[in-house]
Amino acid sequence: MSLDINRKANRVIGYPLIHSQSPLLHNTVYEGMGINAMMIANAHSELSALIQSIKTLSIELTAVTMPFKELVLQYLDDCSSEVKILKTANTIIQRDGQLYGYNTDVDGIAFAFSSVDLHEKRVLVIGAGGAARAMGYFLKISKAKIIWMNRTPNKAMALADEFGGEVIFYDNVSDVGLDIIINTTPVGLYPNGGQSPLPHYVFNEKQIVFDMVYNPAITALLKQAQKAQAKIISGLDMFIGQGVKQIELLTGRKIDDPLLINELKKILLQHQRGLCL
Ligand code: ATR
Repeated sequence: MSLDINRKANRVIGYPLIHSQSPLLHNTVYEGMGINAMMIANAHSELSALIQSIKTLSIELTAVTMPFKELVLQYLDDCSSEVKILKTANTIIQRDGQLYGYNTDVDGIAFAFSSVDLHEKRVLVIGAGGAARAMGYFLKISKAKIIWMNRTPNKAMALADEFGGEVIFYDNVSDVGLDIIINTTPVGLYPNGGQSPLPHYVFNEKQIVFDMVYNPAITALLKQAQKAQAKIISGLDMFIGQGVKQIELLTGRKIDDPLLINELKKILLQHQRGLCL
């Protein structure tokens, strides 16, 4: 294999990064679209060191993941309106030595919900962290009726103040009518799969259930929903949507070839199955 000195090396930064599928997502799309770049995982506990390296090496695109999505804001020269509202960024684009922050999680959510009408729907959001904020923002602009539920109720109340909606407690979850159920907590995430944030009797066949956990693609929550014949949306769709948007921001090219998206999904699923062996 020959070394291509013109190939751009993009980064995903986080800590730890052992199970990140971002390099696989990016590298598959780069190859599919003939983009002369590669994505490399760079795990380090010190964000300042990672930022220094991005600047020194003039890295064009950096995907930012846990636990740096909030902390990264202090290093940005400018950012999108979504970053200002959500107070988190998952993408840095470097132009002329300046770091611009974006949040493509909302684009990922929009991609996952592209065939769902949320208007006036009663939507349960479980969790009240950064992922829930992105969800709340999207639900607010989609004019849904948000029902917040979190282990620490105060945090759910703060999000209800900011994005609208009501707050319920875990004990009351089966008493309220729900059209859509969304998990934004890490419950069910690999390698601790098998756990669901909700009891099975909450689900019915009229509902839509979305889990932001994308590995495994079909979580315990989604299995419960399938059993009740609810429609399910995998977090893998959001993961694909947010990653594809990062590449669109970098290249200015629209990525909407269904063949490429399907192939990408297949490759990510195969990789997840490999991890579970
Ligand atoms: P993220 O930015 O990915 O949303 P986060 O800000 O740490 O991550 O938020 C995680 C959310 O999942 C929080 O709402 C957390 O509940 P608390 O506010 O009570 O901490 C919730 N969460 C995490 N682990 C959970 C668990 N085992 N059961 C229920 N909720 C959990």
